[in-house]
Amino acid sequence: MTKQAEIPNPLAEGLSEYRTADPALMVIFGATGDLSQRKLLPALYNLARNRLLPAGFMLIGAAIDDLTEEQFRKKASESIKAHSRTQPVDEETLDAFLKDLTYLQVDFGRTEGFERLRDRLAELEAARHTGGNVVFYCATPPPTYPAIAQQLKAVGLNKGRGYRRIIVEKPFGSDLHSAHELNRVLRSAFPEDSLYRIDHYLGKETVQNILAFRFANSIFEPVWNNQHVDHVQITAAEPLGVETRGSYYERSGALRDIVQNHALQLLTLVAMEPPVAFDATSVRDEKVKVLKQVRPIETKAIPSHTVRGQYEEGWVLGEQVPGYRQEKNVAANSETDTYAALKLYVDNWRWADTPFYIRTGKRLPKQVTEIRVQFKRPPHLTFGREATKELEPNSITLRIQPEEGISLRFGAKVPTAGVVIRSVNMDFLYTSTFLVDAPDAYERLLVDCMLGDPTLFTRSDEVETAWHFIDVIEESWHSGQPPLQTYAAGTWGPLAADMLLALDGRVWHHP
Ligand code: BG6
Repeated sequence: MTKQAEIPNPLAEGLSEYRTADPALMVIFGATGDLSQRKLLPALYNLARNRLLPAGFMLIGAAIDDLTEEQFRKKASESIKAHSRTQPVDEETLDAFLKDLTYLQVDFGRTEGFERLRDRLAELEAARHTGGNVVFYCATPPPTYPAIAQQLKAVGLNKGRGYRRIIVEKPFGSDLHSAHELNRVLRSAFPEDSLYRIDHYLGKETVQNILAFRFANSIFEPVWNNQHVDHVQITAAEPLGVETRGSYYERSGALRDIVQNHALQLLTLVAMEPPVAFDATSVRDEKVKVLKQVRPIETKAIPSHTVRGQYEEGWVLGEQVPGYRQEKNVAANSETDTYAALKLYVDNWRWADTPFYIRTGKRLPKQVTEIRVQFKRPPHLTFGREATKELEPNSITLRIQPEEGISLRFGAKVPTAGVVIRSVNMDFLYTSTFLVDAPDAYERLLVDCMLGDPTLFTRSDEVETAWHFIDVIEESWHSGQPPLQTYAAGTWGPLAADMLLALDGRVWHHP
């Protein structure tokens, strides 16, 4: 929201008037880890900057590392300076924010650290008048979630005078069985309405805008169905490799890391029926309906409906990069997928026989996340084949990142004496329209949790239904069907992914 004060823009009016939550404390488990340092602390700093943190707010960073409060603050300060979305950071705000951070060394396997946490929270609650409200954030490796929830229960921190909410990061389980078990354990300590499962894609402004685009307008919905839509493509491409996350990624792969959550979330939003209201129950009920209507891919059809790939060495954004098997903490004969593509159908009245193609991969040529809805060609070529030979079918692209916006592609006459029709774009760009920097997804989600609004968090049945669909594919992939394909880093994935669409007479949109 930096530019708002400088450039008057009627569309940006009132944008800073978000609600702030009731006084509360926050505990981040894994406060010295990558997610906290790169995302959570910078997000909290930006909330402080926009005065969106609740009164009395104080953060306890909890982790296994032996750090003093001063060392933790110094580390936080460096991370915020390096990763804040607003640059340069405002020193005064940062100093004030750092004073509201404290640190506690906690071994998640032992009750003793949680007893100290309970005492510290009691002191802070009295000093800060936060009424017992606490958000616990598990920014730790997923195997620690059950232990943390159980320890919180053991020392009585799962209940209190105010609210007690717990945020858990994805991945939520690694298959249906483990997700079910995790839900069971978490619910033995916290009720469902206090459980906030994060899928940070849902906090992205542009993802939320999918619903606004579809349901706040009357011109798109009449054509948003199998009568008019030829197919839908969902792309989540990244130039990054696995970075320092080799050991996590070896157990995950692209299908579990992105498709099971982010990509299927995008699918639900683009395919769902209008919810009766924009509230947690109505929105999530409709999303679950879509997931239940996704046709399970039969085992024998998996080789013809899915593609799994792994990057080899190559060049990305001008830099020579190693292959996946050469990355740190990756097995030399690893079969892990760093690329996944699939074709699926949503079996309902609206989408019958309309293919949805999903692809995601690491070490692709550029970062782009988008949903492209491609429409059918006109039934009759009034202008003749020659005049329209360069005309592509109409499409609407919802660009999630970067260059957030929406673009409509349609045919227009080229201004020449004859009749030649070519495709042109009509673009809406967030930044140039509203002249504001959208908040980071984590900013939005942290505030929503403190406000007690779970609309943008995933419900247990959503997570489990998504795993139900993914598990069958994972099983087949595990048994080598289809075989793993390779692709050079910096290309758009294996040839087999192009064939997936080519066999249907279609091509991927190359953004
Ligand atoms: C995370 C995945 O959930 O999303 C990462 O674990 C991926 O592998 C990241 O890089 C992508 O998020 P974003 O917001 O950068 O598109």
